Amino acid sequence: MTRPRRSILSVPGHRSRMHQKASRSTADVVMLDLEDSVPLASKADARRAVIESLRNLEWRGKICTVRINGVDTAFGFRDLLDVVLQAGQALHAVVLPKVDHPGDIHFASRLLDGIEMERRLHAPIGIEASIESAAGMQAIAEIADASRRVESLVFGIADYSASIGARLVSLSGHGENETAIYPGHRWNFALSRLVMTAKARGLAAIDAPYGNFKDPEGLRHAAAIACALGCDGKWAIHPDQTDTINAVFSPSPEEIARARRILDAYESAEKAGLGAAAIDGRMIDNATVRLARRLWEQAQSLGLA
Ligand code: COA
Ligand code: MG
Repeated sequence: MTRPRRSILSVPGHRSRMHQKASRSTADVVMLDLEDSVPLASKADARRAVIESLRNLEWRGKICTVRINGVDTAFGFRDLLDVVLQAGQALHAVVLPKVDHPGDIHFASRLLDGIEMERRLHAPIGIEASIESAAGMQAIAEIADASRRVESLVFGIADYSASIGARLVSLSGHGENETAIYPGHRWNFALSRLVMTAKARGLAAIDAPYGNFKDPEGLRHAAAIACALGCDGKWAIHPDQTDTINAVFSPSPEEIARARRILDAYESAEKAGLGAAAIDGRMIDNATVRLARRLWEQAQSLGLA
């Protein structure tokens, strides 16, 4: 059964104490960050600290990923080489930031081929591509198709906003006060395009973090919108955010009970040789059943059904 990936906690690479805290958090995935949360002067220290934590901390069944620096920087290639050579056993995937071109994926994927052969790593390391610019969004299908290692597409809201020249409406640019400037969901098109591209290929779609970690209601709202648009999970920047995200991306008891009723009604209708069935005066057809089955399977994989 696939492990849930509802909440992805980003943790600055140079802050080892935070790595420990993250290992004990309720996040489904811990992403150790070497990119934008790490100051330039700490890049090498962060790399060493991340390798150390990957090798030595008890991650309690969590999925561990590392966000490397862009492959067009002075740091990205060495991040990939050092982290995977020295801690590849503990690593599920590398997160590539600011992917603008399928060439970025080809580069990382080929390097991983070589490292896996040299180190005899048996579980192939995945790639999560963060789409954070107009160029990346435009090339998203080619990016998603660039390697079989690609397993998720991530929406990088703050850099995407900067890339298209959109107005900044909060301190962090990570999703706060959006409705003050646009009536509706400002990122509907971009996020839906990312979700569609991911789902057409069986990949996961992951939403950006919500920057104000002292605003649980704002976070809940932002996560609910991402969930409604088809995202599978959302990044977090603070351990206080992961319970809220997990709850939003888990089916509720009412949803699970409804799915079971739909599946039961469908099975009875099928036995009776009927195509469509009705519950509470509403039609259930094959599409309704597929939605219900998906939710039921998700509930089962989370141990809720
Ligand atoms: N991962 C693990 N632990 C974290 C954490 C994180 N992302 N953010 C905070 N913590 C820990 C703190 O170290 C502190 O631990 P302590 O109780 O042992 O001292 C505790 O949680 C409470 O933290 P708090 O005081 O509320 O926040 P802070 O001021 O220490 O940190 C931020 C606030 C925003 C600087 C911090 O949350 C952070 O660096 N987040 C990640 C940013 C990031 O990864 N950005 C890139 C992705 S967009
Ligand atoms: Mg970014």
